[in-house]
Amino acid sequence: MSAAAPAFDFAGARALVVGGGTGLGAAMAEALVAHGASVCIASRARHAGAAHDWIPLDIGDQHSVISAFDELSRRWDGMLHILVNCAGVNLRKRVEETTAEEWEKVLRSNLTGAFFIARQAVPLLRKAGWGRFVQVNSVLARTAMPLRASYAANKAGLLQFTRSLAVEWAAYGITANSISPGPFLTDVTRGIVSDEAAYRRMCERIPLGRFGSPAEIATACLFLCSKRSSYVTGVDIPVDGGWSAV
Ligand SMILES: NC(=O)c1ccc[n+]([C@@H]2O[C@H](COP(=O)([O-])OP(=O)(O)OC[C@H]3O[C@@H](n4cnc5c(N)ncnc54)[C@H](OP(=O)(O)O)[C@@H]3O)[C@@H](O)[C@H]2O)c1
Repeated sequence: MSAAAPAFDFAGARALVVGGGTGLGAAMAEALVAHGASVCIASRARHAGAAHDWIPLDIGDQHSVISAFDELSRRWDGMLHILVNCAGVNLRKRVEETTAEEWEKVLRSNLTGAFFIARQAVPLLRKAGWGRFVQVNSVLARTAMPLRASYAANKAGLLQFTRSLAVEWAAYGITANSISPGPFLTDVTRGIVSDEAAYRRMCERIPLGRFGSPAEIATACLFLCSKRSSYVTGVDIPVDGGWSAV
């Protein structure tokens, strides 16, 4: 590919964005659609957005994931070029107050679910001839904060899971990378943002001094999903206003 060609042209590419109905996933889905990709969203509920296609999927339930990929395979002739996994849930609780059920729910949605979708997606990615897997991770994969033990432990696991996919799938021409956002303005952080003192305290640890807005996650996603990133695999790109640099 010539260096002068437009960097992001997804014409003909089929992309599934798991958890793409709201927040960061919706911003990524919108950017992929704007650059020519056919995008399908997979989530439990149908949300209004740029992508018209939707498949019901509960990432923590392997039977639901298997049926969703069977349906996607029927719709797209067994081919998928891009898989972005943005589904995730947060839990803000002290370790001693966390129940086994709560721990298990975070584990299923954030880590086991990534395994379920990767396993079902690989035949479709292989059939497409080239493939991109992008996992949305978090700064908390590498840094700790009080009240986030279950979430952070899962995100750390996801880092190593994504690297392992990169190594296993290299032989198939499929890259696997992740993006680690710092705090962004989405529903997940609404509680913090609406409390001015809590918002200010969080901003003090971010060199750029503010939360990101969802559109600011899109370029890293476009890069990792594009053919331009063909020699990039097994990496994690922080998009965190400098949080991880401190
Ligand atoms: N916002 C931040 O500051 C921030 C920072 C670091 C990392 N992240 C990560 O970024 C990702 C997206 O977060 P967000 O802030 O955009 O939150 P969000 O708006 O709540 O998006 C999460 C999406 O995941 C879907 N989802 C949740 N559980 C699911 C399940 N069991 N099966 C299928 N889909 C499920 C939800 O759709 P349904 O409810 O319809 O299923 C929702 O659209 C998460 O992985 C989060 O950990 C966010």
